[in-house]
Amino acid sequence: MSEPKKLFIKTYGCQMNVYDSERMAEALGGEGYVPTDRADDADMILLNTCHIREKAAEKVYSELGRFRGLKEEKPDLKIGVAGCVAQAEGAEIMERQPLVDLVVGPQSYHRLPELERKARNGEKALDTEFPEEDKFDHLKGRPKAARGPTAFLTVQEGCDKFCAFCVVPYTRGAEVSRPADRVIAEAHSLVERGVREITLLGQNVNAYHGHDDGLAGLIWALDKIDGLERIRFTTSHPNDMDEALIEAHGTCAKLMPYLHLPVQSGSDRILKRMNRKHTAEQYIRLIERIRSARPDILLSGDFIVGFPEETDADFADTMTLIREVGYGQAYSFKYSTRPGTPAAEREQVAEEVKSARLQELQALLTDQQRAAQDAMVGRKVSVLFEKPGRETGQMVGKSEYLHAVHVTAPDIGAGDIRPVRIVASNPNSLSGEIVG
Ligand code: SAH
Ligand code: SF4
Ligand code: F3S
Repeated sequence: MSEPKKLFIKTYGCQMNVYDSERMAEALGGEGYVPTDRADDADMILLNTCHIREKAAEKVYSELGRFRGLKEEKPDLKIGVAGCVAQAEGAEIMERQPLVDLVVGPQSYHRLPELERKARNGEKALDTEFPEEDKFDHLKGRPKAARGPTAFLTVQEGCDKFCAFCVVPYTRGAEVSRPADRVIAEAHSLVERGVREITLLGQNVNAYHGHDDGLAGLIWALDKIDGLERIRFTTSHPNDMDEALIEAHGTCAKLMPYLHLPVQSGSDRILKRMNRKHTAEQYIRLIERIRSARPDILLSGDFIVGFPEETDADFADTMTLIREVGYGQAYSFKYSTRPGTPAAEREQVAEEVKSARLQELQALLTDQQRAAQDAMVGRKVSVLFEKPGRETGQMVGKSEYLHAVHVTAPDIGAGDIRPVRIVASNPNSLSGEIVG
């Protein structure tokens, strides 16, 4: 029997790429590949790339350059570029960088086996189409091997919202939802393999329409799966938070009290220019409704500072909104020009101004994050344990609020869910004791 070929995948960007990388590994598993975590050991290297901010393509070129020596040593090594940079600039990369044998866009992963064979035959293999068929229908089922207690599951892809700063509608294409029965079947198979928590993924996951009752309908269907204990979803758009989904946060015990709901800016003028299609006030009212359904929910968000034409007053409005909402977690970015998006053509904010605003905003968000974490001390939470900690006898898991929790208890295993009393708040995690 021939030695299995080895596949090394490096993943950048969002959780959807993490999920796609797993599925690509499975698709190539059917072609005789086993995963390796060492590039120098691989017969195929795939970079699963992200295009969301500046210098995305430059990063890919410099990463590819690092493989030159490997390819000289091992001429049979195949190198591929996947993900959003492949979609946007794949053809150009293939032309400019002769090390690249294969380019595949996010909607064409089911064609990987074919592309791999082509590359093995010494041909250049490229596919960045938006095919009619759904890639997930054609990707092989997940293999039956055991896996960790948490998993991502993509249910929706693409975006029709066209925020003025964002490349996603161009790299991932139009919104598509996977039919609920396929998602439910995949969830069953994950649970059979030891998964206890599933995070439903989509660029606009709450615009999901693969179930007659939308994302809430899908969540309630998943709620019925024995052995599945926790459900999460990300990322949501404020305009797609419907009543049924808000209500599910109050009534579905398996739906975790954590919500990532990006607002980007607190200034109505900027929100309008961003094409977000809601006001700051509407977002605040929405948060109030969500909190009245689930008072302890931990909120997370995304912010962009220095969007074209953002004034000091606009930025002050964002700071006010943050103070009003109180986030437990958040991500913030300097506006980054993306060629081909409407905002790229507008008057830009000076780099020093962007940096100063980002610093100020992050200081506030860090304080809020710290306060939310410190407020957990003395509280009883439920922890899904995932892996051993750094010290002997220690296990690390996540609370329902997604805080990392360390516990020293030798009898705990990965996949156990236990009540824990939080005793200390550390820089990036909590420590606790099992209380039952
Ligand atoms: N679909 C999600 C976001 C996907 S991109 C949503 O609508 O919320 C993830 C985050 O990257 C965005 O929320 C935004 O904050 C940030 N982002 C996207 N494009 C950006 C750009 N051009 N510059 C800076 N940040 C950007
Ligand atoms: Fe990008 Fe806006 Fe779509 Fe989110 S909703 S993916 S930020 S265009
Ligand atoms: Fe990046 Fe594409 Fe995700 S651009 S954030 S990998 S959808």
